[in-house]
Amino acid sequence: MTEDGRNPDQGRSGEQADETVERYKNDDGTINKKEVIMFTPTKTILDKARQQHYAVAHFNINNLEILQGVVNAAVKLQAPIVLATSEGAIQYAGMNYLYALARTAAETTRIPIALHLDHGRDLKIIKKAIQLGYSSVMVDASHQEFEKNIKITKQVVQWAHPKGISVEAELGTIGGAEDLVESRHILYTDPAKAKEFVERTGCDFLAVAIGTSHGAYKFSGKADLRQDIVQQIHRLVKIPLVLHGASGVPEKVVKEAQKYGAKLSGVYGVPDSQIKLAIKNGIAKINTDTDLRLAFDAAVRKAVQTRPADFDPRHILGPAREAIQQVAEQRIRLLGSGGKG
Ligand code: G3H
Ligand code: 13P
Ligand code: ZN
Repeated sequence: MTEDGRNPDQGRSGEQADETVERYKNDDGTINKKEVIMFTPTKTILDKARQQHYAVAHFNINNLEILQGVVNAAVKLQAPIVLATSEGAIQYAGMNYLYALARTAAETTRIPIALHLDHGRDLKIIKKAIQLGYSSVMVDASHQEFEKNIKITKQVVQWAHPKGISVEAELGTIGGAEDLVESRHILYTDPAKAKEFVERTGCDFLAVAIGTSHGAYKFSGKADLRQDIVQQIHRLVKIPLVLHGASGVPEKVVKEAQKYGAKLSGVYGVPDSQIKLAIKNGIAKINTDTDLRLAFDAAVRKAVQTRPADFDPRHILGPAREAIQQVAEQRIRLLGSGGKG
């Protein structure tokens, strides 16, 4: 509930889900602070990555199997991870449910796990994530003009920092379209503006636009990324930099999905060599969602088609969880964060 008694999730399918996790609250309705220290601060995780020249995997989650798949991978490889929930994921599953899933992962493992709000555009959702005890929030006001982006980002920093929660902001625009994150054009981040933006907002991490885009349709052929922009921003800005739209769209996974009926043509991701270069140039967090979706999709299609008499959801979603783990392990290895947990 908001202060004025409205439910911010009203009308969304996650609404009922959100109502049930009352046990993290004190009798007066405030969050029990002892309950929320299970996560490792995102800033701790990313500052270390920046200093030691590797990148941390940010994985988008929206259900149990995706969460368990990426956490299993991180535990196996002893890697720190950032679990991220988009506004779309929250609409689907409910913020409290996703929070509880992530918290359980943090409590029951020994690797550093952070919980992050991805592409926060709705200030009510950002506020709710801060109140609930997320480790970090992204405020995505990149679609606004420069001064307005600064104003909104600064406001979120003022809400988050007193609670020890760090803030990711975005300057420039990352192309592509997914449920709630849509922008058609790529506007590269201007390094000088990035310096001014970080100084004036006090944000902790900066998402930069260098030609990547969300989703599976990133390029029409060769990946064309402005690595020089990462280098320049890294020289000017002393906080961890973030690469969105970074999925590799692995051919093997795409072929497997196609084999079982997926209609995917002309899909291209960011080549591994470009990811390595971006990390060398100063990227400290790499966001991956699409690769997980593709792996999940391929596994579900295969399970349904090859076992037509089996209607047990566990036999359909179990292989998807394993497929997620495999992809997540590949990403962690690529990012060099294995053994850093
Ligand atoms: O960056 C965007 C993420 O892939 C989330 O996508 O809004 O469809 O959950 P979504
Ligand atoms: P992909 O669509 O390339 O996986 O990017 C995800 C992302 O940037 C989430 O914020
Ligand atoms: Zn993104």
